[in-house]
Amino acid sequence: MRHIRIFDTTLRDGEQSPGVALSLDQKLEIAHALARLNVDIIEAGFPVSGALEFEAVRRIASEVKGPVIAALARTATLDIDRAAKALEKAEKPRIHVFTSASKIHLEHMLRKTEEEVLEMADEMVRYARRYVDDVEFSAQDVMRADWEFVKRLYEVAIEAGATTINIPDTTGYGTPSEYGALIRRIRDEVVRGRDVVISTHTHDDLGLATANALAGIENGAGQVECTINGIGERAGNTALEEVVMALYVRRDYYQAYTQINTREIYRVSRLVERHTGMPVPPNKAIVGDNAFAHESGIHQDGVIKHRATYEIMDAELIGRRPAVLVLGKHSGRAAFKKALEDLGYAFPEEKLSQLFRRFKEIAERKGPLSSDELMALVESEEPTA
Ligand code: KIV
Ligand code: ZN
Repeated sequence: MRHIRIFDTTLRDGEQSPGVALSLDQKLEIAHALARLNVDIIEAGFPVSGALEFEAVRRIASEVKGPVIAALARTATLDIDRAAKALEKAEKPRIHVFTSASKIHLEHMLRKTEEEVLEMADEMVRYARRYVDDVEFSAQDVMRADWEFVKRLYEVAIEAGATTINIPDTTGYGTPSEYGALIRRIRDEVVRGRDVVISTHTHDDLGLATANALAGIENGAGQVECTINGIGERAGNTALEEVVMALYVRRDYYQAYTQINTREIYRVSRLVERHTGMPVPPNKAIVGDNAFAHESGIHQDGVIKHRATYEIMDAELIGRRPAVLVLGKHSGRAAFKKALEDLGYAFPEEKLSQLFRRFKEIAERKGPLSSDELMALVESEEPTA
């Protein structure tokens, strides 16, 4: 079984979600929650980008113990100096240096030639290594870049001392087989057996972030960059909870594990939802309200007979209450009877049928019934709710 490192970037890439601005206290609270979740690395922020950002990284580095604390920096001495300063008190500091790889980024954003980008990467990774032993190197938009340049760029970064090389699909453009093949090529043609961790960093513009990250793992990645609830720029980043639970539930397939304390997942998800103001959609995998709810009669009947008929993991495993049967218009008699039994009622079949008919009429008109509404239905002598 391979250990897959979880690099959480909720506080950096996640906070780049449109409309999100976390306060210092909120960032600290989330960082402590991430430490309890037992992530391997917390990317605490981008210190050069502002005074609050610098202070947040500095406080997290001095107060949050356990995970590696990473700070982002462009290939510029000022950025790296600020990152190093903010990380001074960290037990395990990491400087994450990044540039760009695609022609479109070089031409329109960096306004640099390939040779200039190579030179800056070389100098700045070496510069960061003067401060810390743990340096990560990324080049944005690798998925749309020319392979020969990508190969040279990452080779230069490794030679200069990068210990982790991160392969961002910045625009969420890649498909799982393409991204998997890219990671495999990086492993075989760039890393070539050296002691360097390959990392995935995938965005969700086409809804493929998690699939791409998992394809990366299958092809040699040892670190996944992700955020709680998948928040981030535009459509967001890879969702931590999805990758972690996919690796756990399908450990037979991936032959890999994370050290995440899965029972903390739900709590952290709700904390991030509250502090960012970004609601988790009800159908969101793992942490959505409906992720462990069954409404249709056939599914409910199956789950009553054996939970594994329609559940591939226990809700308790991620710190949620056990799966619930929602009593709505699709529900069957078996679930209705079970819900009444759970509330302490037992009725002869004929009375049960009468109550069930009444329940269906109400559910069709008004939607699912709560326990209180069910009790009201049963308690009324002539149910008329
Ligand atoms: O998406 C991206 O390319 C990034 C880098 C800064 C790693 O977030
Ligand atoms: Zn990103």
